[in-house]
Amino acid sequence: MDAGLFYGLQTLIQLTESAGTAGWTVQSTYIEDAPRFDYRGFMMDVSRHFRSKEFVKKQIDVLARYKLNRLHLHLADGAGWRIEIKKYPRLTEFAAWRPQATWKEWWFGENNRKYCEQNDPRAHGGFFTQDDIRELLKYAEERHIVIIPEIEMPAHFEEVLAAYPELSCAGEPYKNDDFCVGNEQTFTFLEEVLTEIMELFPSEYIHVGGDEAGKRAWKTCPKCQQRMKENNLKDVNELQSYLIHRIEVFLNAHGRKLLGWDEIMEGGLAPNATVMSWRGEEGGLNAVRMGHRAIMTPGDYCYLDKYQDAPFSQPEAIGGYLPLSQIYSYNPVPEALTSDEAKLIYGVQANLWAEYIPTDEYYEYMLYPRLLALAEVAWSAPNVNLTQISIHVH
Ligand code: ACM
Repeated sequence: MDAGLFYGLQTLIQLTESAGTAGWTVQSTYIEDAPRFDYRGFMMDVSRHFRSKEFVKKQIDVLARYKLNRLHLHLADGAGWRIEIKKYPRLTEFAAWRPQATWKEWWFGENNRKYCEQNDPRAHGGFFTQDDIRELLKYAEERHIVIIPEIEMPAHFEEVLAAYPELSCAGEPYKNDDFCVGNEQTFTFLEEVLTEIMELFPSEYIHVGGDEAGKRAWKTCPKCQQRMKENNLKDVNELQSYLIHRIEVFLNAHGRKLLGWDEIMEGGLAPNATVMSWRGEEGGLNAVRMGHRAIMTPGDYCYLDKYQDAPFSQPEAIGGYLPLSQIYSYNPVPEALTSDEAKLIYGVQANLWAEYIPTDEYYEYMLYPRLLALAEVAWSAPNVNLTQISIHVH
């Protein structure tokens, strides 16, 4: 079924569900409708606490009903690697497991931030097999949703460096959180992993993370220093830019596009990259002014891990405050943009990081109804007054 017909059907279902209609009876009506943005996204963090395939499918059903069309899966982070890679079995035998059930215990507790073998009786975690991923992709495709995989680099990479310490500047586990950019083996690893990722995921975009790299070890690592010298890179920001640019060349050669968090602009943006603007809108604004596409996901409007009500009345969350009305009030196209620049705002996305979300129930509590407000922002024409809708919902 084509996307337009599929979305028309979702609207029809919504009409039958809305107040004032009896059962399946709908008053004769004419609706002309189209989405404001091509990219209407949601990011699910499955690293901090692993989620089952069934749970992901359940959320896909909701995305489809509300006409969201991208599911960005954050598949790898320090808290656990979550996808089978045939060439690198230690990623799922070891880097996907930890002795503590919750992220909080793993991060702050005793003997913290370590991993364990899959068959260790203490092991908590999990991963998607490649067959699981194929099943999820098919399920999503039938509902007009593209799944975009994110493989983080060069930071949020501790779990990989514990499994393959030769990829770190120190050459030992539990020493660095960024990988070594001076080491050619790192590029072999990245290209082999991305090759399996591209074989699985048909998405136009591959997300490579790029956020929050400390870049500390690079300043003294002889291999990183050598790489900088050979390529006339003046600082470690340019070294990160070298890495992202090189990975972009690799992805482009395989017909894919690179997507990354706004830090990929530091040290120079790779020529064809799309920027996901999370530290406010600045990154997105700068990207479109340079002729690049941007996806808006600023923390103040799109981070569903923040509290949705007064913290004393809520289960523990990461911090901050993002009520439903704030999401409804969001306009992803900053007024400062010209109409040509505005066309490069590809879309908008809500993110739900899961450090403080150990259970499925709590995950859904944080997700709904706020994700549905984001869906309205992503779909509705700019002249629709969503603030009115939010008052109605309250
Ligand atoms: C991010 O929230 N670190 C992208």
